[in-house]
Amino acid sequence: MLPEKIKQVFQNLGEEQGDLKCAYLYDLSELVSHASKMREALPENCELFYAAKANPEAEILQALEPIVDGFEAASGGELKWLRQQLPEQRLIFGGPGKLDCELEAAIDLNIELLHVESLYELRRLQSIAQRKNAKVSILLRMNIPIGDINQTRLCMGGKPTPFGLEEALLTDALSVIGESTNIELKGFHFHLMSHQLDLDNHIKLMALYFETFKRWRESYAQNVTHLNVGGGIGINYSDPDNWFDWPRFCDRLSRLINDSQMQDVTIRFECGRFVSAQCGYYGMQVLDIKPSYGEIFVVARGGTHHFRTPAAQNHSHPFKIVHSRLTKEAVPRISQSRVTIVGQLCTPKDVLAKQEFVESLSVGDWIVFTYAGAYAWNISHQNFLMHEKPRVIFLD
Ligand SMILES: Cc1ncc(COP(=O)(O)O)c(C=O)c1O
Repeated sequence: MLPEKIKQVFQNLGEEQGDLKCAYLYDLSELVSHASKMREALPENCELFYAAKANPEAEILQALEPIVDGFEAASGGELKWLRQQLPEQRLIFGGPGKLDCELEAAIDLNIELLHVESLYELRRLQSIAQRKNAKVSILLRMNIPIGDINQTRLCMGGKPTPFGLEEALLTDALSVIGESTNIELKGFHFHLMSHQLDLDNHIKLMALYFETFKRWRESYAQNVTHLNVGGGIGINYSDPDNWFDWPRFCDRLSRLINDSQMQDVTIRFECGRFVSAQCGYYGMQVLDIKPSYGEIFVVARGGTHHFRTPAAQNHSHPFKIVHSRLTKEAVPRISQSRVTIVGQLCTPKDVLAKQEFVESLSVGDWIVFTYAGAYAWNISHQNFLMHEKPRVIFLD
């Protein structure tokens, strides 16, 4: 069921003058409540940073500011935006292919930690920091084999990727750092999987990170204090009520930290999707309903140029129907049918949900896609076909 207040916003919008509409709606009180619960459940030596790439809307960042420990930027653009929106906040900066000007900006904007992705980046950072006479604290982003841990849909560990350094390059990196006068190694960073839905699997991944961190600390880097364990907690889009059980994960994590004697290390999460997906809704009003060779297509206002998540993930996105309160004359309608929901783009790829059952639906009703608060509007090809932008509503 959709919360009543969400339903009402869409119904009210549908009653405004003009054409049928589409809109993003963000429930900020839901965001605050969910993020606060996430933060509170974490063990004492853990921190929660928000990966802004999931959704960098100013209102989302400001709502999260009092709750999270800081924010992660993955480009110079995000870094500047975050500093502008959150002048006092702790920022960290990662991502491959950093420009010299972005490394400089990171120093100028006083970020807390920079995540180094390659040996060349490390050398460039050293010479930039030396020229600026600055000290830079870093984590080395590492890519290690994941052993017998199950892979998720998107796994970056132990295989060729552009991200981080393989273990064989660690000693080279440590010798660059050893000779550097301007770089201080604070620890290691791992982000080896996204879309994690399995709690046991994620605990195994944490155990692998802990064991690797301790082994490296003992062998070569006695002074390291920070372990960034990335983000990657998933949303179960095909069965959204079946959540990743974050409180239970935190309980298990707490035991693992004690058993592994990791209490003296700052363990930092940088989650995106799991923080903001739930607070977002993308609503589309139905423009047309039509049969085609035995299937029924629902054409709705907007499309994947606003909400690319289903196309990017190649899934049928979960949705709810909100019936319009206006009296409908002779408009197309259906009941008890399987439908494919598409947008206004002239490409057969503009599909948001495929062959899903609906009880009843007519032109003017709203299809409200849930879990649309992460990797949604900001990853979409918004200018394709020059359609109007959706309305954006922030609900306090
Ligand atoms: C390095 C890094 N950290 C954190 C994240 C956030 O991941 P998620 O939104 O799955 O939590 C990503 C996502 O791409 C990432 O690449």
